[in-house]
Amino acid sequence: MRIEFPEHLIWGAATAAFQIEGSPSADGKAESIWDRFTARPGRIRDGSDARVACDHYRRYPEDLALMADLGLGAYRFSVSWPRVISAPDRGVNPDGLDFYSRLVDGLLERGIRPFVTLYHWDLPWFEQQRGGWDARDTVWRFADYAEVVARRLGDRVSHWVTINEPLTVTVAGYVSGDHAPGQHRPLGAFRVAHHLLLAHGAALERLRALVPNAKVGPALNLFPVIPRTRSDQRRAERIDALVNRLFADPILKGRYPRPVQRLLSVFNWTLQSGDLDLIGQPVDFVGVNHYSHIIIERSWLPWLGFRLARSSDPAALHTDMDWEIYPRSFFDTLTWLRERYDNPTVYITENGAAFADRVEADGRVRDQQRRDYLAAYLVMLRKALDAGSDVHGYFVWSLLDNFEWALGLSKRFGLIHVDYRSLRRTPKLSAHWYASVCRSDGFELSEAMYRSLLATTLDESLDLIEEHHLRGPAT
Ligand code: FCB
Repeated sequence: MRIEFPEHLIWGAATAAFQIEGSPSADGKAESIWDRFTARPGRIRDGSDARVACDHYRRYPEDLALMADLGLGAYRFSVSWPRVISAPDRGVNPDGLDFYSRLVDGLLERGIRPFVTLYHWDLPWFEQQRGGWDARDTVWRFADYAEVVARRLGDRVSHWVTINEPLTVTVAGYVSGDHAPGQHRPLGAFRVAHHLLLAHGAALERLRALVPNAKVGPALNLFPVIPRTRSDQRRAERIDALVNRLFADPILKGRYPRPVQRLLSVFNWTLQSGDLDLIGQPVDFVGVNHYSHIIIERSWLPWLGFRLARSSDPAALHTDMDWEIYPRSFFDTLTWLRERYDNPTVYITENGAAFADRVEADGRVRDQQRRDYLAAYLVMLRKALDAGSDVHGYFVWSLLDNFEWALGLSKRFGLIHVDYRSLRRTPKLSAHWYASVCRSDGFELSEAMYRSLLATTLDESLDLIEEHHLRGPAT
């Protein structure tokens, strides 16, 4: 069976500056919150840091060649704010900016469309010292930085992602403390979330003013929230409001979801007039990062009682992150977005899986699991397109194995294997497979694989999923 995609759908791969670049102080780069965080003992599970990572800052020409070999139509990377602004108050660092300009030229020479993410978590440390995302002023300084980048790259870059995963920044950075800046201040988390949303809106406004044909959107990590019983339904709606709609509603509907509005007032947080207009300006696309789903569990606390995607079913398959392989959730996410938000244009800005890959004696990396994972999720993408979702592109996370935040170098997400000692790059089997997808806009799915795919996606919770996701907005 052949799975075919429309020719206009663009195939890409994604990375983020801190995870691949290394060279933390080259050419005048300032420190970021992640440079500080990784230097604190015990913060990174395998004890590694990102001072070298993939050494992409120096090896980008080699990486460009690898992207061309893959036949990528697009590459999503992030600009490091502290490379570009290296001192408080508009200390523009031309050398840092030049790096991204050369990268963009290299992509365009190879016919690869650049997608630029402005914030993929590496806040300048000097901004953290001035309050970071807790402080409203950070929003306007982010907009100034966005303007600097837009002035330099806007003649060649049309696709811009404002903020990557504001949910993760809020929860991992300010509630669990697993990510930089490593804080545990749940009561302040809504303020952080609001400032990230404002930063999205403020950057979008600057980009529109400066880049004539700019296409701008956020990248949201969206999770279908799956109730296990009918009585979990209300809890599922609350969790959905907190996890998904806290960010999607203000951006796409210009308001906070009602259950969250009540929480905001409890946490003594104030919204200034005009904020929601700034946040809710029309976007050109929604970037969707999709990895997993949320399962609702019993709890006496109304806002708790859920867990991320680790299945108790012994037959369920999990990636090396312990995230359940559950392709159906990808389809559900896209359905949810189409129905709730009037079918926006979507780019899948991240999807992929970590496995414990290794280079074998013959020099090959046989990551069949990743190939099967990608094939299964792409079948769901095909189904979503059939159902009417307006998806224009798909980016594998990630181009290269890289520094997986608090898990360090221990988790390999790449299409391309990186040996962190020699820094040698080896395209994995999945890279060869994905190259053929990029070239032919589709792939062959064997009968056996199709059947096993259906088995992982049509489980007993299907009816509830359908009911939950097809019911329409709760507010
Ligand atoms: C996402 C991040 C990305 C990467 C993947 C695995 O949440 O945006 O940087 O870490 O997860």
